[in-house]
Amino acid sequence: MQWSDMLAIDGGAIDGQHHGLVDAINALHEAVAQSREAELVEATLGTLERYSEVHFATEELMLEEASYPRLEQHRRQHRQFIEQLQSFRGQLGDGGAGLGHGMAQFLGSWLVNHIMVSDKAYVAFLRSSCKLPAYRPKGS
Ligand SMILES: [Fe+2]
Ligand SMILES: [Fe+2]
Repeated sequence: MQWSDMLAIDGGAIDGQHHGLVDAINALHEAVAQSREAELVEATLGTLERYSEVHFATEELMLEEASYPRLEQHRRQHRQFIEQLQSFRGQLGDGGAGLGHGMAQFLGSWLVNHIMVSDKAYVAFLRSSCKLPAYRPKGS
């Protein structure tokens, strides 16, 4: 998957972290595509999991401070993603053959969908409550 300006939502730290998540999913995709050893796939999955946890904690703290009314729903989506990652890791551990491409694809689409819908929604809230400066992505 490729980073595109369509995914840019704050022009700052959050975009930087999302970029990092895209990179981590790509690293996983690559490990799978080259059908490297299960350990490597598992390690890249672990990196993605840790990175996601850091990113989700950043967002949740920010939304808590802003009293974001839909924080609980947002938190639930984050938690489900982490659970999905853990379940993939468990399946890999059990020798889950053929998990690879579908897994990387699922994670990529989840991320794009989450950024475009749920993360964009909190950015709109933060802006409307003046907690985030206005930002215009390039080309708009
Ligand atoms: Fe989020
Ligand atoms: Fe996010």
